[in-house]
Formats: sequence, structure tokens, C-alpha cells
Amino acid sequence: MSLLNTDFVQDLLNKVAGLDNDQGDARIKQITRRVVADIFRVIEDFDVSPDEFWSAMGYLTAVGQANEAGLLVPGLGLETFLDLRTDEAEKQAGLEGGTPRTIEGPLYVAGAPLTKAEARLDDGSEQGEVLFMEGQVRDLNGAPIAHAVVDVWHANTLGGYSFFDPSQPKFNLRRRIETDADGRYRFRSLLPNGYACPPDGQTQRYLDVLGRHGHRPAHIHFFVSAPGFRKLTTQINIDGDDYLHDDFAFATRDGLIPPVMRVPIPPPSTRAV
Ligand SMILES: [Fe+2]
Repeated sequence: MSLLNTDFVQDLLNKVAGLDNDQGDARIKQITRRVVADIFRVIEDFDVSPDEFWSAMGYLTAVGQANEAGLLVPGLGLETFLDLRTDEAEKQAGLEGGTPRTIEGPLYVAGAPLTKAEARLDDGSEQGEVLFMEGQVRDLNGAPIAHAVVDVWHANTLGGYSFFDPSQPKFNLRRRIETDADGRYRFRSLLPNGYACPPDGQTQRYLDVLGRHGHRPAHIHFFVSAPGFRKLTTQINIDGDDYLHDDFAFATRDGLIPPVMRVPIPPPSTRAV
């Protein structure tokens, strides 16, 4: 027998969502009723015990206390689903083409130093494989966009991000680069490594129960913006990473894996003076 479908529970849901009053926000009320009804349905369909239910509530509390909501959300594919929805809405509006979007993730920090045309993202204090990247910001017709801002951020060789990793200098591996008259930008940095959810964290705790890993392949984040254009939120992946197509956050997309060209450094004796 379904309790959910009884008049008593349906009336309870209406009261829970405030549908028996004319105050508040109508959309939030509708969504609340749906969400709570769906939770009721899950409890009923899966015969969720009170212990299981309170365990889940304890988990959500722990996620909040650990500030890991922003990590759990991409891990559950929700951030990717929002991207897919935006892709679809743009397609319906006739807005197709260009560099694919992908998730922002929880580790962006606004206000990175702004430079013109080029930047160095590291301060030279960390050893690693030197990375050069250059590109051109273009509109959908291929015309270059001058004075666009390329906001770039990525992890260090240990997979940590400045601000969240207190061992790194402020704004380390974070810059905003304004494109030149030809829409071009370039930067020097250190090749980032992939990283994983904190092994003792709440997101990984959930992933363990699902039999999943919490690894992300090495990647570099970008916002690209210019007046009169939609803002692009995207990433590139570093080709060759073991997790390239097995990202716990589901952010890898075709078109976001540029070729990486490794350039041997000539021995000092053969270098031009
Ligand atoms: Fe990231």
C-alpha cells in the first residue's frame, strides 16, 4: 500500500510546501513540493529505514561542514547536466559552434592579476615541466576579438590550487590576460597534474560507497569574456592523462583536448649564446 498517494500525505505535502497559503515564492513552493514528494517516494519505494534516513542527513551535514558541496555536485554529474541543458537551450536558440563549455568547478577565485597579451602564471618557486600555451579568441565567424579577457586558473604539480592550498603564493597559477589587437593571448606556466578528491573527505566517502574513484585528469580552467559576447566557461585537458576519459567530475569533452607538443631542451653546450 502506498502511503504517498493517500489524501493525508498529499495534503501534508501541500502544507509542507506552503501551498495552503498565498504568501512566499510560488516557484519555490512548487519545486519544494516536488522535491519533498520525490524524497517521500524514494523512502517508500526503497523501504528506507529511519537509521538510513538519519545517516543520510548526517552525511549532508558533514558535507556542509567540510565545505564540499561544490565537489559533490560535479561528482554526481549535476554540474555536467546543467551544461548539457545550457547547450540544448543555445541550440534551440540557434546558437551553435565555438569552443565547447564545461564545468567551472568550485575552485575559481575572482580578481587575479590582469595583464595584456601575455602572462607568466607561476613565480618560479616551483619546479616542473614548463608549459607554454597560446591561442586566439575568435567570434563564431572566425573574426578575432581584441580586448577579450582570458581568465585562466589551474592546479600546481601536486594538484593543489592557490587560496585553497595555503602553501602557495596568492593568485599562484591564476591570471587574467587581455587579448591583443589580433585576439591573441599566450602564457607560460607549469604543466599541472591531475588531482583527486581529498581521500578522507566527504565526497570521497560517498564515492567509495558507489565503488567510484575521485580522480580528475590534468586540466586548465578558463573563463573567456568580451563585451557583447556570451561568457565561455571551459577547460582544456592535458592529453595523455590516465584519467582523460574517466573524470570523476564528467568534464572532459570532445574539442577540449588540444595537442601537447613536447619540445626537448638542447644541452647547454649546443645552445646559442
Ligand atoms: Fe580544476
